[in-house]
Amino acid sequence: MKRILLFSLLGLFSFQSDEASAPLALPEHFPEPTYDLQAMPWDGRISELGRKLFYDPLLSRDGRISCASCHSPFNAFAHTDHALSHGIDDSVGQRNAPALFNLAWKSHFMWDGAISLLDQQALIPLTHPSEMGDTLPHILGRLRRNENYRNRFSKAFGDTVISTQKLLHALAQFQLSLISDKAKYDEVKRGNRQFNEQEQNGYALFLQHCNSCHTEPLFTSDRIVSNGLPPDPRLQDLGRFRISQNPKDSFRFQIPSLRNLSYTYPYMHDGRFDRLKEVMEHYTREMVMLPNIGEELTAGITLSFADQKDLMAFLFTLNDSSFCFDPRFGFSR
Ligand code: HEC
Ligand code: HEC
Repeated sequence: MKRILLFSLLGLFSFQSDEASAPLALPEHFPEPTYDLQAMPWDGRISELGRKLFYDPLLSRDGRISCASCHSPFNAFAHTDHALSHGIDDSVGQRNAPALFNLAWKSHFMWDGAISLLDQQALIPLTHPSEMGDTLPHILGRLRRNENYRNRFSKAFGDTVISTQKLLHALAQFQLSLISDKAKYDEVKRGNRQFNEQEQNGYALFLQHCNSCHTEPLFTSDRIVSNGLPPDPRLQDLGRFRISQNPKDSFRFQIPSLRNLSYTYPYMHDGRFDRLKEVMEHYTREMVMLPNIGEELTAGITLSFADQKDLMAFLFTLNDSSFCFDPRFGFSR
Protein backbone atom coordinates (compact mmCIF):
# COMPACT_ATOMS: atom_id res chain seq x y z
CA MET A 1 0.00 0.00 0.00
CA LYS A 2 2.75 2.38 1.02
CA ARG A 3 4.66 1.46 -2.07
CA ILE A 4 1.67 2.23 -4.28
CA LEU A 5 1.30 5.60 -2.62
CA LEU A 6 4.96 6.33 -3.11
CA PHE A 7 4.78 5.42 -6.78
CA SER A 8 1.73 7.54 -7.36
CA LEU A 9 3.39 10.47 -5.62
CA LEU A 10 6.45 9.99 -7.79
CA GLY A 11 4.17 9.84 -10.84
CA LEU A 12 2.60 13.15 -9.87
CA PHE A 13 5.97 14.71 -9.29
CA SER A 14 7.44 13.61 -12.59
CA PHE A 15 4.32 14.85 -14.39
CA GLN A 16 4.73 18.28 -12.91
CA SER A 17 8.30 18.66 -13.94
CA ASP A 18 8.06 17.03 -17.42
CA GLU A 19 4.68 17.81 -18.80
CA ALA A 20 4.15 21.30 -17.47
CA SER A 21 6.58 22.67 -19.99
CA ALA A 22 6.12 20.07 -22.75
CA PRO A 23 4.01 21.26 -25.70
CA LEU A 24 0.93 19.36 -26.80
CA ALA A 25 2.02 16.32 -28.86
CA LEU A 26 0.31 16.95 -32.20
CA PRO A 27 0.10 13.87 -34.46
CA GLU A 28 2.17 14.26 -37.62
CA HIS A 29 -0.53 12.90 -39.91
CA PHE A 30 -3.12 15.43 -38.62
CA PRO A 31 -3.59 18.89 -40.20
CA GLU A 32 -2.82 22.13 -38.34
CA PRO A 33 -5.15 22.60 -35.34
CA THR A 34 -7.89 25.23 -35.57
CA TYR A 35 -7.46 26.21 -31.92
CA ASP A 36 -5.08 29.16 -31.75
CA LEU A 37 -2.20 27.58 -29.85
CA GLN A 38 0.00 30.61 -30.56
CA ALA A 39 -2.30 33.01 -28.78
CA MET A 40 -3.29 30.51 -26.09
CA PRO A 41 -0.50 27.95 -25.76
CA TRP A 42 -1.22 24.66 -24.05
CA ASP A 43 0.14 24.47 -20.52
CA GLY A 44 0.36 21.16 -18.63
CA ARG A 45 -0.20 22.80 -15.22
CA ILE A 46 -3.40 24.52 -16.34
CA SER A 47 -4.54 21.33 -18.08
CA GLU A 48 -3.97 19.37 -14.85
CA LEU A 49 -6.19 21.85 -12.98
CA GLY A 50 -8.75 21.42 -15.76
CA ARG A 51 -8.65 17.64 -15.32
CA LYS A 52 -9.43 18.04 -11.63
CA LEU A 53 -12.32 20.41 -12.39
CA PHE A 54 -13.69 18.16 -15.16
CA TYR A 55 -14.19 15.30 -12.68
CA ASP A 56 -15.44 17.43 -9.78
CA PRO A 57 -19.19 17.46 -8.97
CA LEU A 58 -18.48 20.57 -6.86
CA LEU A 59 -19.14 22.51 -10.06
CA SER A 60 -22.85 21.56 -10.05
CA ARG A 61 -25.61 23.10 -7.96
CA ASP A 62 -26.31 19.94 -5.95
CA GLY A 63 -22.71 18.67 -5.85
CA ARG A 64 -23.65 15.49 -7.72
CA ILE A 65 -22.95 16.09 -11.41
CA SER A 66 -19.54 16.57 -12.95
CA CYS A 67 -18.60 17.01 -16.61
CA ALA A 68 -17.56 13.34 -16.50
CA SER A 69 -21.09 12.27 -15.45
CA CYS A 70 -22.04 12.77 -19.10
CA HIS A 71 -18.59 12.53 -20.70
CA SER A 72 -17.01 9.31 -19.39
CA PRO A 73 -13.37 8.54 -20.26
CA PHE A 74 -14.21 4.86 -20.85
CA ASN A 75 -16.61 5.91 -23.61
CA ALA A 76 -14.14 8.26 -25.28
CA PHE A 77 -15.84 10.97 -23.16
CA ALA A 78 -19.33 10.26 -24.51
CA HIS A 79 -22.17 8.64 -22.63
CA THR A 80 -23.69 5.27 -23.36
CA ASP A 81 -26.42 4.67 -20.77
CA HIS A 82 -29.13 6.66 -22.50
CA ALA A 83 -29.88 8.38 -25.76
CA LEU A 84 -30.52 11.85 -24.30
CA SER A 85 -28.25 13.27 -21.60
CA HIS A 86 -29.29 13.12 -17.94
CA GLY A 87 -28.31 15.98 -15.65
CA ILE A 88 -29.18 17.59 -12.35
CA ASP A 89 -32.39 16.57 -10.47
CA ASP A 90 -32.80 13.63 -12.91
CA SER A 91 -33.64 16.07 -15.68
CA VAL A 92 -33.43 14.77 -19.24
CA GLY A 93 -31.78 16.96 -21.88
CA GLN A 94 -32.62 17.34 -25.55
CA ARG A 95 -29.55 15.73 -27.08
CA ASN A 96 -27.03 12.89 -26.94
CA ALA A 97 -23.77 13.79 -25.15
CA PRO A 98 -21.06 13.77 -27.85
CA ALA A 99 -17.63 12.18 -27.46
CA LEU A 100 -14.79 14.57 -26.64
CA PHE A 101 -11.46 14.16 -28.43
CA ASN A 102 -9.38 15.98 -31.04
CA LEU A 103 -11.25 19.16 -30.11
CA ALA A 104 -8.28 21.35 -31.07
CA TRP A 105 -9.23 20.64 -34.72
CA LYS A 106 -12.85 21.77 -34.46
CA SER A 107 -14.13 25.22 -35.39
CA HIS A 108 -17.54 24.85 -33.74
CA PHE A 109 -19.04 22.87 -30.93
CA MET A 110 -22.44 21.40 -30.00
CA TRP A 111 -24.60 19.45 -32.44
CA ASP A 112 -25.81 22.70 -34.03
CA GLY A 113 -22.39 24.41 -33.87
CA ALA A 114 -23.74 27.04 -31.44
CA ILE A 115 -20.29 27.68 -29.91
CA SER A 116 -17.16 28.55 -31.82
CA LEU A 117 -14.61 28.82 -29.02
CA LEU A 118 -13.74 25.89 -26.79
CA ASP A 119 -12.88 28.40 -24.05
CA GLN A 120 -16.53 29.47 -23.93
CA GLN A 121 -18.21 26.10 -24.24
CA ALA A 122 -18.29 25.15 -20.55
CA LEU A 123 -20.51 28.13 -19.71
CA ILE A 124 -23.42 26.19 -21.19
CA PRO A 125 -23.27 22.92 -19.20
CA LEU A 126 -22.36 24.76 -15.97
CA THR A 127 -25.48 26.91 -16.10
CA HIS A 128 -27.88 24.75 -18.14
CA PRO A 129 -30.96 23.87 -16.07
CA SER A 130 -30.86 20.23 -17.21
CA GLU A 131 -27.10 19.80 -16.96
CA MET A 132 -25.27 21.25 -13.92
CA GLY A 133 -27.85 23.93 -13.16
CA ASP A 134 -25.84 26.55 -11.27
CA THR A 135 -24.79 30.21 -11.62
CA LEU A 136 -21.21 31.42 -12.09
CA PRO A 137 -21.11 33.52 -8.88
CA HIS A 138 -22.11 30.43 -6.89
CA ILE A 139 -19.55 28.19 -8.60
CA LEU A 140 -16.74 30.74 -8.21
CA GLY A 141 -17.74 31.24 -4.55
CA ARG A 142 -17.36 27.52 -3.85
CA LEU A 143 -13.98 27.36 -5.59
CA ARG A 144 -12.68 30.45 -3.75
CA ARG A 145 -13.72 29.01 -0.39
CA ASN A 146 -11.91 25.76 -1.14
CA GLU A 147 -8.29 25.82 0.01
CA ASN A 148 -7.28 23.01 -2.31
CA TYR A 149 -8.55 24.94 -5.34
CA ARG A 150 -6.97 28.19 -4.14
CA ASN A 151 -3.63 26.34 -4.18
CA ARG A 152 -4.28 24.63 -7.50
CA PHE A 153 -5.33 27.83 -9.30
CA SER A 154 -2.34 29.67 -7.93
CA LYS A 155 0.02 26.84 -9.00
CA ALA A 156 -1.50 26.79 -12.48
CA PHE A 157 -1.80 30.52 -13.15
CA GLY A 158 0.78 32.01 -10.81
CA ASP A 159 -1.69 34.17 -8.86
CA THR A 160 -4.54 33.61 -6.44
CA VAL A 161 -7.43 35.16 -8.38
CA ILE A 162 -10.11 32.61 -9.30
CA SER A 163 -12.16 33.99 -12.21
CA THR A 164 -14.69 32.70 -14.73
CA GLN A 165 -12.14 33.10 -17.48
CA LYS A 166 -9.57 30.95 -15.67
CA LEU A 167 -12.14 28.29 -14.84
CA LEU A 168 -13.22 28.05 -18.48
CA HIS A 169 -9.64 28.19 -19.75
CA ALA A 170 -8.55 25.35 -17.45
CA LEU A 171 -11.44 23.14 -18.62
CA ALA A 172 -10.57 23.94 -22.25
CA GLN A 173 -6.87 23.15 -21.71
CA PHE A 174 -7.65 19.71 -20.32
CA GLN A 175 -10.01 19.00 -23.20
CA LEU A 176 -7.36 20.10 -25.73
CA SER A 177 -5.09 17.41 -24.32
CA LEU A 178 -7.64 14.71 -25.24
CA ILE A 179 -6.00 13.61 -28.47
CA SER A 180 -6.99 10.25 -29.92
CA ASP A 181 -4.39 9.13 -32.47
CA LYS A 182 -3.47 5.55 -31.58
CA ALA A 183 -6.05 3.51 -33.46
CA LYS A 184 -5.00 0.78 -35.90
CA TYR A 185 -5.78 3.28 -38.71
CA ASP A 186 -3.14 5.65 -37.29
CA GLU A 187 -0.59 2.84 -37.04
CA VAL A 188 -1.27 2.02 -40.70
CA LYS A 189 -0.75 5.69 -41.62
CA ARG A 190 2.52 5.67 -39.68
CA GLY A 191 3.62 2.59 -41.63
CA ASN A 192 3.74 0.34 -38.54
CA ARG A 193 0.79 -1.93 -39.35
CA GLN A 194 -1.29 -3.02 -42.34
CA PHE A 195 -4.99 -3.36 -42.99
CA ASN A 196 -6.21 -6.89 -43.67
CA GLU A 197 -8.08 -7.54 -46.90
CA GLN A 198 -11.52 -6.87 -45.45
CA GLU A 199 -10.42 -3.61 -43.82
CA GLN A 200 -8.72 -2.52 -47.02
CA ASN A 201 -11.90 -3.13 -49.01
CA GLY A 202 -13.89 -1.28 -46.33
CA TYR A 203 -11.46 1.64 -46.55
CA ALA A 204 -12.06 1.90 -50.31
CA LEU A 205 -15.84 1.91 -49.74
CA PHE A 206 -15.40 4.50 -47.02
CA LEU A 207 -13.41 6.81 -49.31
CA GLN A 208 -16.09 6.44 -51.96
CA HIS A 209 -19.20 7.00 -49.84
CA CYS A 210 -18.35 8.61 -46.51
CA ASN A 211 -15.05 10.50 -46.65
CA SER A 212 -16.44 13.71 -48.17
CA CYS A 213 -18.21 14.40 -44.86
CA HIS A 214 -16.36 12.18 -42.37
CA THR A 215 -12.99 13.26 -43.78
CA GLU A 216 -9.84 11.42 -42.67
CA PRO A 217 -7.71 11.65 -40.57
CA LEU A 218 -10.11 13.36 -38.12
CA PHE A 219 -13.13 11.64 -39.70
CA THR A 220 -15.12 14.84 -39.81
CA SER A 221 -14.91 17.70 -42.28
CA ASP A 222 -16.10 20.01 -39.48
CA ARG A 223 -19.19 21.04 -41.50
CA ILE A 224 -22.86 21.24 -40.50
CA VAL A 225 -25.10 19.30 -42.89
CA SER A 226 -28.09 16.97 -43.06
CA ASN A 227 -27.55 13.24 -43.49
CA GLY A 228 -31.24 12.57 -44.15
CA LEU A 229 -32.22 11.39 -40.68
CA PRO A 230 -36.02 11.53 -40.38
CA PRO A 231 -36.76 14.26 -37.79
CA ASP A 232 -38.14 12.99 -34.47
CA PRO A 233 -41.47 14.82 -33.94
CA ARG A 234 -41.23 14.41 -30.15
CA LEU A 235 -38.01 16.41 -29.89
CA GLN A 236 -38.71 19.07 -32.53
CA ASP A 237 -34.98 19.62 -32.84
CA LEU A 238 -34.39 21.88 -35.84
CA GLY A 239 -30.60 21.65 -35.54
CA ARG A 240 -28.63 24.53 -37.04
CA PHE A 241 -31.84 26.48 -37.73
CA ARG A 242 -32.00 27.21 -33.99
CA ILE A 243 -28.81 29.28 -34.37
CA SER A 244 -29.11 30.81 -37.84
CA GLN A 245 -32.93 31.05 -38.21
CA ASN A 246 -32.28 30.23 -41.86
CA PRO A 247 -34.78 27.63 -43.13
CA LYS A 248 -32.03 26.07 -45.25
CA ASP A 249 -30.35 25.06 -42.01
CA SER A 250 -33.29 23.02 -40.71
CA PHE A 251 -32.24 19.56 -39.47
CA ARG A 252 -28.60 20.27 -40.18
CA PHE A 253 -26.19 18.95 -37.56
CA GLN A 254 -22.48 18.83 -36.97
CA ILE A 255 -20.70 15.93 -38.67
CA PRO A 256 -19.39 13.78 -35.80
CA SER A 257 -16.01 12.04 -35.97
CA LEU A 258 -16.17 8.31 -36.62
CA ARG A 259 -13.26 7.52 -34.35
CA ASN A 260 -13.98 5.33 -31.30
CA LEU A 261 -17.46 4.26 -32.43
CA SER A 262 -17.24 1.04 -30.39
CA TYR A 263 -17.18 3.16 -27.24
CA THR A 264 -19.43 6.10 -28.09
CA TYR A 265 -22.83 4.53 -28.89
CA PRO A 266 -25.68 5.42 -29.06
CA TYR A 267 -25.27 7.39 -32.28
CA MET A 268 -26.63 10.61 -33.84
CA HIS A 269 -27.65 13.89 -32.14
CA ASP A 270 -30.56 12.18 -30.40
CA GLY A 271 -28.87 8.84 -29.77
CA ARG A 272 -31.50 7.01 -31.81
CA PHE A 273 -29.25 4.15 -32.97
CA ASP A 274 -27.50 1.76 -30.60
CA ARG A 275 -25.67 -0.25 -33.20
CA LEU A 276 -23.59 0.37 -36.29
CA LYS A 277 -25.82 -2.03 -38.20
CA GLU A 278 -28.68 0.44 -37.75
CA VAL A 279 -26.44 3.22 -39.08
CA MET A 280 -25.75 1.09 -42.17
CA GLU A 281 -29.49 0.56 -42.62
CA HIS A 282 -30.01 4.29 -42.37
CA TYR A 283 -27.51 5.16 -45.10
CA THR A 284 -28.52 2.33 -47.43
CA ARG A 285 -32.30 2.15 -46.97
CA GLU A 286 -33.86 4.70 -44.65
CA MET A 287 -32.50 8.11 -45.55
CA VAL A 288 -35.21 10.72 -46.06
CA MET A 289 -34.55 13.04 -48.99
CA LEU A 290 -35.02 16.25 -47.00
CA PRO A 291 -34.79 19.35 -49.23
CA ASN A 292 -31.37 20.24 -47.82
CA ILE A 293 -29.82 16.78 -47.49
CA GLY A 294 -26.06 16.76 -48.18
CA GLU A 295 -25.65 16.57 -51.95
CA GLU A 296 -23.34 13.56 -51.67
CA LEU A 297 -26.32 11.60 -50.40
CA THR A 298 -29.05 12.63 -52.84
CA ALA A 299 -28.41 9.63 -55.11
CA GLY A 300 -28.61 7.23 -52.14
CA ILE A 301 -25.92 4.72 -51.18
CA THR A 302 -25.93 1.12 -52.34
CA LEU A 303 -23.96 -1.37 -50.27
CA SER A 304 -24.37 -5.16 -50.31
CA PHE A 305 -24.30 -6.99 -46.96
CA ALA A 306 -20.71 -8.02 -47.67
CA ASP A 307 -19.80 -4.39 -48.39
CA GLN A 308 -21.46 -3.27 -45.15
CA LYS A 309 -19.44 -5.84 -43.19
CA ASP A 310 -16.23 -4.66 -44.82
CA LEU A 311 -17.07 -1.02 -44.17
CA MET A 312 -17.74 -1.81 -40.50
CA ALA A 313 -14.44 -3.73 -40.30
CA PHE A 314 -12.72 -0.54 -41.49
CA LEU A 315 -14.64 1.59 -38.98
CA PHE A 316 -13.42 -0.70 -36.17
CA THR A 317 -9.82 0.21 -37.10
CA LEU A 318 -10.69 3.72 -35.84
CA ASN A 319 -11.12 2.45 -32.27
CA ASP A 320 -8.40 3.72 -29.97
CA SER A 321 -8.69 1.75 -26.73
CA SER A 322 -5.49 3.24 -25.33
CA PHE A 323 -7.23 6.64 -25.46
CA CYS A 324 -10.14 5.44 -23.31
CA PHE A 325 -7.83 3.90 -20.73
CA ASP A 326 -5.09 6.53 -20.79
CA PRO A 327 -4.29 7.29 -17.12
CA ARG A 328 -3.34 10.88 -18.08
CA PHE A 329 -6.98 11.57 -18.87
CA GLY A 330 -8.56 9.61 -16.03
CA PHE A 331 -10.17 10.63 -12.75
CA SER A 332 -7.08 9.79 -10.71
CA ARG A 333 -3.73 9.74 -12.39
C1 HEC B 1 -26.00 16.45 -18.24
C2 HEC B 1 -25.02 15.97 -19.16
C3 HEC B 1 -23.82 16.86 -19.47
C4 HEC B 1 -22.96 17.44 -18.58
C5 HEC B 1 -22.99 17.41 -17.06
C6 HEC B 1 -21.93 18.09 -19.39
N1 HEC B 1 -22.19 17.89 -20.72
FE1 HEC B 1 -21.01 18.47 -22.26
N2 HEC B 1 -22.48 17.97 -23.54
C7 HEC B 1 -23.67 17.34 -23.22
C8 HEC B 1 -24.56 17.36 -24.37
C9 HEC B 1 -25.97 16.78 -24.42
C10 HEC B 1 -23.88 18.04 -25.40
C11 HEC B 1 -24.42 18.39 -26.78
C12 HEC B 1 -25.23 19.66 -26.58
C13 HEC B 1 -25.84 20.26 -27.81
O1 HEC B 1 -25.51 19.85 -28.92
O2 HEC B 1 -26.69 21.17 -27.67
C14 HEC B 1 -22.55 18.38 -24.85
C15 HEC B 1 -21.54 19.00 -25.59
C16 HEC B 1 -20.28 19.28 -25.10
C17 HEC B 1 -19.17 19.77 -25.90
C18 HEC B 1 -19.17 20.01 -27.40
C19 HEC B 1 -18.46 18.89 -28.11
C20 HEC B 1 -18.53 18.96 -29.61
O3 HEC B 1 -17.74 18.28 -30.25
O4 HEC B 1 -19.37 19.68 -30.16
C21 HEC B 1 -18.11 19.96 -25.03
C22 HEC B 1 -16.72 20.47 -25.38
C23 HEC B 1 -18.58 19.60 -23.70
N3 HEC B 1 -19.89 19.18 -23.78
C24 HEC B 1 -17.84 19.73 -22.53
C25 HEC B 1 -18.41 19.67 -21.26
C26 HEC B 1 -17.77 20.18 -20.05
C27 HEC B 1 -16.40 20.83 -19.97
C28 HEC B 1 -18.63 19.93 -19.02
C29 HEC B 1 -18.48 20.30 -17.56
C30 HEC B 1 -18.29 21.72 -17.26
C31 HEC B 1 -19.80 19.27 -19.59
N4 HEC B 1 -19.63 19.15 -20.95
C32 HEC B 1 -20.88 18.81 -18.85
C33 HEC B 1 -23.97 16.80 -21.99
C34 HEC B 1 -23.34 17.17 -20.81
C1 HEC C 1 -23.48 14.49 -46.40
C2 HEC C 1 -22.53 14.22 -45.35
C3 HEC C 1 -22.45 12.80 -44.80
C4 HEC C 1 -22.10 11.65 -45.47
C5 HEC C 1 -21.77 11.47 -46.95
C6 HEC C 1 -22.07 10.61 -44.47
N1 HEC C 1 -22.38 11.11 -43.23
FE1 HEC C 1 -22.42 10.08 -41.51
N2 HEC C 1 -23.12 11.75 -40.52
C7 HEC C 1 -23.35 12.98 -41.11
C8 HEC C 1 -24.01 13.84 -40.15
C9 HEC C 1 -24.43 15.29 -40.37
C10 HEC C 1 -24.18 13.09 -38.98
C11 HEC C 1 -24.89 13.55 -37.69
C12 HEC C 1 -26.38 13.52 -37.95
C13 HEC C 1 -27.25 13.76 -36.74
O1 HEC C 1 -26.88 13.42 -35.61
O2 HEC C 1 -28.36 14.26 -36.94
C14 HEC C 1 -23.60 11.78 -39.24
C15 HEC C 1 -23.55 10.74 -38.32
C16 HEC C 1 -22.94 9.53 -38.54
C17 HEC C 1 -22.70 8.53 -37.53
C18 HEC C 1 -23.04 8.68 -36.03
C19 HEC C 1 -21.79 9.03 -35.25
C20 HEC C 1 -22.04 9.44 -33.83
O3 HEC C 1 -21.07 9.52 -33.06
O4 HEC C 1 -23.18 9.74 -33.45
C21 HEC C 1 -22.11 7.46 -38.12
C22 HEC C 1 -21.66 6.17 -37.46
C23 HEC C 1 -21.96 7.80 -39.53
N3 HEC C 1 -22.48 9.06 -39.74
C24 HEC C 1 -21.39 6.97 -40.47
C25 HEC C 1 -21.35 7.28 -41.82
C26 HEC C 1 -20.92 6.33 -42.83
C27 HEC C 1 -20.43 4.93 -42.55
C28 HEC C 1 -21.03 6.98 -44.04
C29 HEC C 1 -20.80 6.39 -45.42
C30 HEC C 1 -21.60 5.25 -45.73
C31 HEC C 1 -21.52 8.31 -43.77
N4 HEC C 1 -21.71 8.46 -42.42
C32 HEC C 1 -21.74 9.28 -44.73
C33 HEC C 1 -23.01 13.34 -42.40
C34 HEC C 1 -22.64 12.44 -43.40
